[in-house]
Amino acid sequence: MHYATKEPEKASFRSAGVSPAILNLLRATKNAGETPAPRNLTNLCPSEAMAIIWVSAQHRLKSKTMIVPAQIESPASLAHLDLEKEIVRLKREMNAVILAHYYQDSEIQDLADFVGDSLQLSQQAAATKADVIVFAGVLFMAETAKILNPAKPVLLPDLKAGCSLADGCPAPLFKAFRERYPDHVSITYINCSAEVKALSDIICTSSNAEKIIRQIPPERPILFAPDQHLGRFLIKKTGREMILWPGSCIVHEMFSEKSLVQLMERHPGALVLAHPECPEAVLRHADYVGSTSGLLNYTKQSPAAEFIVATESGILHQMEKAHPEKTFISAPGEGGCSCSECPHMKLNTMEKLYLCMRDRNPEITLDEDLRLRALKPILRMLEMS
Ligand code: 13P
Ligand code: SF4
Repeated sequence: MHYATKEPEKASFRSAGVSPAILNLLRATKNAGETPAPRNLTNLCPSEAMAIIWVSAQHRLKSKTMIVPAQIESPASLAHLDLEKEIVRLKREMNAVILAHYYQDSEIQDLADFVGDSLQLSQQAAATKADVIVFAGVLFMAETAKILNPAKPVLLPDLKAGCSLADGCPAPLFKAFRERYPDHVSITYINCSAEVKALSDIICTSSNAEKIIRQIPPERPILFAPDQHLGRFLIKKTGREMILWPGSCIVHEMFSEKSLVQLMERHPGALVLAHPECPEAVLRHADYVGSTSGLLNYTKQSPAAEFIVATESGILHQMEKAHPEKTFISAPGEGGCSCSECPHMKLNTMEKLYLCMRDRNPEITLDEDLRLRALKPILRMLEMS
């Protein structure tokens, strides 16, 4: 498939606000899944560049080139194994800790030593006494664990498990963005590459961002990247103006206000819970907005019996485990589709988890100079949390 050669694709680029000049650049891009080279992108303003990155990420996902499974032994060759038992055995032999995000498959969550949100997982990674960290999550999370633990092997079941927010904020563009605002403090969401962390002043997650912003002296202007929806939510919450990088999450961006309102009409007693990565149009219907652990805690404390949950559907597992008598409904996407699964998070499987522990591969490696630069803003986050 070739970019922008078919009429329907051209139309969708236009409706995404892509100008004719950018359409020409897209036409020059050979493969559907290819993001134009950073040196081309640096000539554009961040919002133009983001339009390109966004559209190409969407197309990569549609063409499924990003969700091809890693080279693994076929699941059939592992069929004779009791994977759960084998993973527990390897964990003991290696003195490993398995850290899992709430968006992982339920069987992985159930095996993990700790399941949590991005902040809790980085705190666990910073504190662990285990010899090996096995990270059932996405690359930016495993990289953060490695930045905090240079001497320990950090294993990720599938190195292709990325994040659209990190993909949409390439370091050369982010550097240019920072250079345009030299007097601004740069607060960057943890969903970014190690290179972007190294260019930032402070890292934050959805559970500590508000607290961190409130600690910045009022006279210091702020740049916030890469999630524009979280940024807008925080501007509203804190009353603090910030310049936003125009990124977004492909999963949360898909929730549809129209379908949500229809669902709310069918479930008038249900409370709506939303992650702040959702667009404003969805957030305005929420009874509570918070990080994944915030949403989970809310369902535990609330007397309500029914909840509509606007975040990745993996979190429903812990909600249902804690309160099997309550009803949890995933918020719908456009046309009522249930597209609330993160294709990156779901690249990890029990087979790949077992193989990465057996083979101690894939392992996260980072250049030491980069690691040290990325460590500073992460440590600032942990101090300010
Ligand atoms: P949390 O930090 O709230 O778990 O969010 C991580 C994430 O990737 C949300 O999409
Ligand atoms: Fe990234 Fe969105 Fe997946 Fe979270 S749900 S890891 S923000 S792509």
